Amino acid sequence: MNILVTGGAGFIGSHTLIELYKAGHTAVVVDNLSNSNPVALQRVAEIIGVPEIPFYKVDIRDREGLEKVLAEHRCDACIHFAGLKAVGESVEKPWEYYENNIGGTLTLVDVMRRHGCKNIIFSSSATVYGDPAEIPITENCPKGQCTNPYGWTKSMLEQVLMDIQKADPEWNVVLLRYFNPVGAHASGRIGENPNGIPNNLMPYITQVAVGKRQELGVFGNDYPTPDGTGVRDYIHVVDLATAHVAALKVFSEQCSVLSEAGANQLNTKHLALNTTHIYNIGTGHGYSVLDMVKAFVRVNGVDVPYSIKPRRAGDIATCYCNPAKAKAELGWEAKYGIDDMVRDSWNWQRQNPEGYSE
Ligand code: NAD
Ligand code: UFG
Repeated sequence: MNILVTGGAGFIGSHTLIELYKAGHTAVVVDNLSNSNPVALQRVAEIIGVPEIPFYKVDIRDREGLEKVLAEHRCDACIHFAGLKAVGESVEKPWEYYENNIGGTLTLVDVMRRHGCKNIIFSSSATVYGDPAEIPITENCPKGQCTNPYGWTKSMLEQVLMDIQKADPEWNVVLLRYFNPVGAHASGRIGENPNGIPNNLMPYITQVAVGKRQELGVFGNDYPTPDGTGVRDYIHVVDLATAHVAALKVFSEQCSVLSEAGANQLNTKHLALNTTHIYNIGTGHGYSVLDMVKAFVRVNGVDVPYSIKPRRAGDIATCYCNPAKAKAELGWEAKYGIDDMVRDSWNWQRQNPEGYSE
């Protein structure tokens, strides 16, 4: 398939491009580079062994720009990563987050349908579960109250895409609810490159290890968890990338079901028709903040000084998933463990202490 990849220069997008090409797909990237660097795409091309990845510096809110891309490239599906993702910033700038993430997605989906491309994989998040009603979290767990505008953009966009799919069953919609992506490509050539002070745990740890920050603040050690620190389902970004390749199967199965059985019949041997497909993408294992720090120190042989700080507003104690649905329906499961995650995160940071800006 030829895939439109919005936000393809970013952390998860760049890793997904590699797995798409490895699986025999091709891609066209649209990114406004608001949180990424085009060097990432050059490195992706080197890793894949192609001269370049087709790239357009276009904002997904720019209808004419998107029209031009889709007029020049026939795309079978879109993997939609583009969006702003900083939780704290979204509290400061809610309008900007709703306008970029929701406005951008509405424009994207409209342009896609005008070009007959009605297959979309959307980057959602475990954040839509709020403080989850059950652990491990299955896809049947009710959605919850988000604690910030970023989370609400994900929750609202899920609803928008579900409603669009319901109204027009030619749409195939896959919502992937990511847990906590970490790690980097084994080459160390691409990885997570946050602007300024990192919000997320793993880039903070790697920046302490490389000497850019003095110590890690551990946000709370009085949660009801085994060691008192927050527990999350960390997933290697390469596993997350392969989940997108596996999810493309939904589109080919839908097409074959439609041609075999006729558009109005449901073939229960296959995935259900006329519904939005929702999957948790995690490992199913919960690790605490201190588990991550200890694994990082043990595997990489570097020191990570830390001190205990107050809880961070909006954080929950425990969040990990049951990923069985993705395994059963997509044949996907995470392959990498905590040691791979901390090794590859460090390999990237060590080789690129200033990210892509060197
Ligand atoms: P990222 O910031 O590295 O990548 C997002 C990309 O989208 C960037 O390259 C940015 O320049 C681009 N972008 C933003 N707004 C755009 C616009 N209006 N038009 C065109 N391009 C635009 O983030 P990431 O970690 O790779 O995340 C990818 C997606 O996954 C995001 O939608 C994010 O919300 C979601 N997600 C991320 C995490 C996480 O922890 N990293 C967790 C759950 C969900
Ligand atoms: N933490 C620290 N110190 C830090 C950073 C984080 O102790 O400097 C702790 C947090 O308190 C939490 C854990 O590390 O217990 C993970 O925090 P992250 O900020 O890395 O991740 P979150 O689980 O808070 O949120 C992430 C993404 C969200 C996404 C969510 C669910 O940032 O966008 O995962 O997928 F919605």
